[in-house]
This record gives sequence, structure tokens and C-alpha cells, in this order.
Amino acid sequence: MKRIAVLTSGGDCSGMNAAIRAVVRAGLSNNLEVIGIQKGYQGLIDQQYELLTTKSVSSKLQVGGTFLQSARCLEMLEEAGQNLAIDNLKEMGIDGLVIIGGDGSHRGALKLQKRGIQVMAIPASIDNDIPFTDMSLGVDTALNNIIHAVDCLRDTASSHDRTFVVETMGRNCGYLALVAGIACGAEYALIPESSFDIDEICGNLRRRFQEGRDNSIIMIAEGAGKAQDVADQIKDRIGFETRIMVLGHYQRGGSPSSFDRLLAARVGVTAVEALLQGESGEMLGLSCGAVVQTDLEKVVQAGRRQIDETLLKLAATLGI
Ligand code: ADP
Ligand code: F6P
Repeated sequence: MKRIAVLTSGGDCSGMNAAIRAVVRAGLSNNLEVIGIQKGYQGLIDQQYELLTTKSVSSKLQVGGTFLQSARCLEMLEEAGQNLAIDNLKEMGIDGLVIIGGDGSHRGALKLQKRGIQVMAIPASIDNDIPFTDMSLGVDTALNNIIHAVDCLRDTASSHDRTFVVETMGRNCGYLALVAGIACGAEYALIPESSFDIDEICGNLRRRFQEGRDNSIIMIAEGAGKAQDVADQIKDRIGFETRIMVLGHYQRGGSPSSFDRLLAARVGVTAVEALLQGESGEMLGLSCGAVVQTDLEKVVQAGRRQIDETLLKLAATLGI
């Protein structure tokens, strides 16, 4: 093996740069050339790439996003696009590819692997919806972003006897809203995995204010509904002055947390070592603190990661 490549695909997240850096440094330590493919699979198809050196990844570790950029590439969904990507990889002399991205990116990785490309995949998505890993890259930083925002909102809410409804990302997965709800002591975490009753919520909000509480925080995952709709329903039912905050893409950015930096270093280096050992078609996840490999076919077939029942129980016990 002489030359490997790395790309970031799908929604960006914090820690991607740190993972690219780990791949580059591990590659160079093992006398490999490392190529950075720009804009995910689009760069493979359009042959947009650059040779990466230690200088290319200098001072990138602490920066959010991905300096290789990311993209959603429709051509890659078609066989013709996949064939072109494979032809280009061969033309570029790439012996192994590290793909950093979410579940869609892993599906693309599996297609390449099945056509004979040596690939390793690193789960990266703030949604934490990828199976066979306790944490994906970017989740911890996103949670820290959310927690910072909610703590700020709590300050202003309590100054005005207000309720805030805070909408998180996560697609169809309630992980971010649930865990942030636990970490911020929210009154509710509305997630797609559990049903909720708006009348019961309103009854509780009224009781809280009657008891002298000066604020309430309701987290809602984007997959469970819109913050504005919940706020409108509260206003209509009990007349409470309710404000909303849709956290949106703010959650995806910012300097990676120490957890994400360490995770990126561990999985980035392991990916290169696995390629050197001739392994392929595996995703590098985290299980009980250890880096573990799972067959990409198994990952893709499993679909979305289910929410951890113990977290649901924890939230319920805490009254969320
Ligand atoms: P994420 O990787 O964050 O889940 P997407 O689901 O948008 O983001 O997937 C990223 C990219 O991966 C897509 O734009 C596409 O290029 C590629 N991809 C997704 N699904 C497939 C598939 N079934 N076959 C081949 N490539 C895919
Ligand atoms: O998958 C990551 C994610 O940030 C989701 O939480 C969100 O629903 C989606 O991507 C947003 O996608 P885009 O960046 O294309 O608006």
C-alpha cells in the first residue's frame, strides 16, 4: 500500500478536521501518501483532490467543519456515478479510502467496497443515529453547543417568567433533545421516539408557575415537531408568554470538545492501521470506551440506531 485517500461526506460536524488530521499523520508515519478528496463523493466523481502534508493539517484540529468540505452527491446514488468514482480512484492510484460521514455516506462506502475498493468508515454525524457505535463524531460538541444555548435561555426566561421551547436537530432521532434535556434539567424533552400530550404539558406549566417557578424549558427534537407549533399551542391553551429558539446549524459548528478530539484521533489512526492490515468494509465505532469494528453491511442493514432505553428511563425518573 502506497497511497490512501480521505473524504468527508454528508452533513458536516465538529471533529471532522481532527479525524482528517489523524488519518494524515498516521498515513505519513507509515510512509503512505495521503490524498484529500474535496466535497465528499462529489470530489471523487469530479477528481477534485489535493496531496495532504502535515502542513495541510496544521492548526486544523481545533476548528469545526471540514476543510476538505462536504457535500451531498446525487450522482453517487446511481451505478454510473459509483463506477466513475471507482475509475477515478484507480486512475489516482488510491489503494485505500477512509470515509468520514453519516449513514448515507456509509451506504456509499459499502457500494465502493463491494466493487473492490478497500474502505474504512468513520461515523460522523451530530444526530447519533448510526448503529454499532455509542457515540458518533460531533455528537458531544453539538451537545455542548446546545447546553450552552439552553443555559443562556434559562437566564433570560427566569427574568421574565417565560417558557422557552428549544428545537434541536437530529432528523428522526431524539438523542440530542433527550440528552440535552437531561443535562440542562429541562422540564420536557419531546422526541419522535415517545408520544406526548400537550394538555398535560400545559397543566404542568401552569402548576409550575403557580408554585412560584419563574421559567420552564421544553426541548423538542426536529423529528417530533416544530418549536413554534408547540409554543402556539401553549399560548392558545393557557395564554403563557412563550418564546422559541430553533438552534439549527449552530449545533453543528464550533471547536470540537476534548471528547471529539480524542475520538477523532483514535478512529482516524485505527482506520489507517486497519487499511495497512488489508482490512476493508468496516466501520470504526465506540463501544464501552473501546474502538470496535463492525462490518459495513451489518451497519447499513441495521438502519437507524435506536434510542437507548436507559436514557429514556433516566429522563422519566428525573421528571423530564
Ligand atoms: P450522511 O452521510 O450525513 O447520512 P447523506 O444521507 O446525505 O448524509 O449521504 C451523504 C452522501 O452519501 C449522499 O449525498 C450520497 O452521495 C451518498 N449516499 C447516500 N446513500 C447512498 C447509497 N444508497 N448509495 C450510494 N451512495 C449513497
Ligand atoms: O444529519 C445531520 C443534520 O444536521 C440533521 O440533524 C439535520 O436534519 C440535517 O443534517 C440538516 O441538513 P442540511 O445541512 O442539509 O440542512
